[in-house]
Amino acid sequence: MGKFIIDGGHKISGEIDVQGAKNAVLPILAATVLADGASEIHNCPSLRDVDKTDQVLEGLGCTVSRGDHTVTVDAGGIKCCRICEELMREMRSSIVFLGAIIARCKEAVVSMPGGCPIGLRPIDLHLKALRALGIDISEEHGYIKCRADRIKGADIHLDFPSVGATENIMLAAVTADGVTTIQNAAREPEIIDLGLFLRAMGADIRGIGTSVITIKGADKLHGAAYTIMPDRIVAATYLAAAAATGGSITLKKANPRDMGAMLHVLREMGADIRCVGDTITLTSPERLKSVHTIKTMPYPGFPTDIQSPFMALAALADGTSVFVENIFENRFQHVDELTRMGADIKVTDRSAVVRGVKQLSGANVVARELRGGAALIIAALAANGTTTINGTEFIDRGYENIESYLSACGAVIRRE
Ligand code: EPZ
Repeated sequence: MGKFIIDGGHKISGEIDVQGAKNAVLPILAATVLADGASEIHNCPSLRDVDKTDQVLEGLGCTVSRGDHTVTVDAGGIKCCRICEELMREMRSSIVFLGAIIARCKEAVVSMPGGCPIGLRPIDLHLKALRALGIDISEEHGYIKCRADRIKGADIHLDFPSVGATENIMLAAVTADGVTTIQNAAREPEIIDLGLFLRAMGADIRGIGTSVITIKGADKLHGAAYTIMPDRIVAATYLAAAAATGGSITLKKANPRDMGAMLHVLREMGADIRCVGDTITLTSPERLKSVHTIKTMPYPGFPTDIQSPFMALAALADGTSVFVENIFENRFQHVDELTRMGADIKVTDRSAVVRGVKQLSGANVVARELRGGAALIIAALAANGTTTINGTEFIDRGYENIESYLSACGAVIRRE
């Protein structure tokens, strides 16, 4: 396990260009499979999950070339419709390839993605929707086998506005026969980014960003060039790093319009935040104030992915904050580790009661998943003394060169 060693107590201040969004680039790379030509994706973050997605594309027979924050994918030579078990287990979000592979190859075989540290991560909504599109799906021996000579447009109502299920339906429906509507679709900004890329490829897709998406099947799609949106979760993580250490930070290449719920909470905690175009400037208060209750919800509600980094903030705030995690059933694994650093947090079912303390102390802690690992970094930056965070592999899945960005803003952090 790789380690980050952090000497806490240094203000995080300076300027950071926000990386491209992991949760936009992954479905967009899957969408490149739909074209029989090349697509060029810009502002692509350098992340382990992107590397793994490139491996999936190459395994399907696509040609993938990487430049500086650019990935070019030529799906003209696609000849395989399988994603191996090892890759599916390493990156369960590859399930979003299902719709794209079936639409292009008329069949697909992927292993069940299985759960992950934050929850069981079922895919029942994905499979129910794909079956509604006329796709024959069998689940046997841990594999999902799909077949469809023609995908037929359908009216689909999602029981929950699942991001991945919405993406899978979009990818399967853009070249289907007829019209598909998705009711109760996810409204996340990453869905809009995928929709805009599909339009650039020639898709007829309306209502992206709303709860009702309408897709009129196109005969075929062509490759396109596209620039990925800024990563709103990474942006909020860096704002939190500054706020936790009494620093002031300016983020460039951000999109504050995607971050309303998160900026609202930071302002409630006493941070001064100014947004001008794609720039966000945060100035910390003397001491953060607690927030009465934070409930994670589908967009535009408070994002589950920033719950743990913001809990690290609340651990230092003046007063008591309550976090309710409504999206995933096991997303409080960072609590034990924050407690080792002196945080006062009590978890009951899906709620965590956080009583702010004046100071955290450095300790040896373990990251068990991506965003919980980010929470530990924030706590370590503010803590008194040195913290060792084991599990850089998790953090590298979503944060590009995090130690370089933080060092440039005053952190004393090294990777081992
Ligand atoms: C995406 O996961 C993101 N991942 C997650 O980010 C994010 O937390 C999540 O959306 C919610 O915003 C990517 O985009 C790669 P869901 P996804 O389907 O698509 C249940 C990160 O840290 N559900 O909206 O898996 C599910 O169990 C990651 O960057 C079903 O019950 O999220 C969960 O409780 C973590 N059946 C809820 O819906 C299904 O078929 C939300 O899941 C699908 C989902």
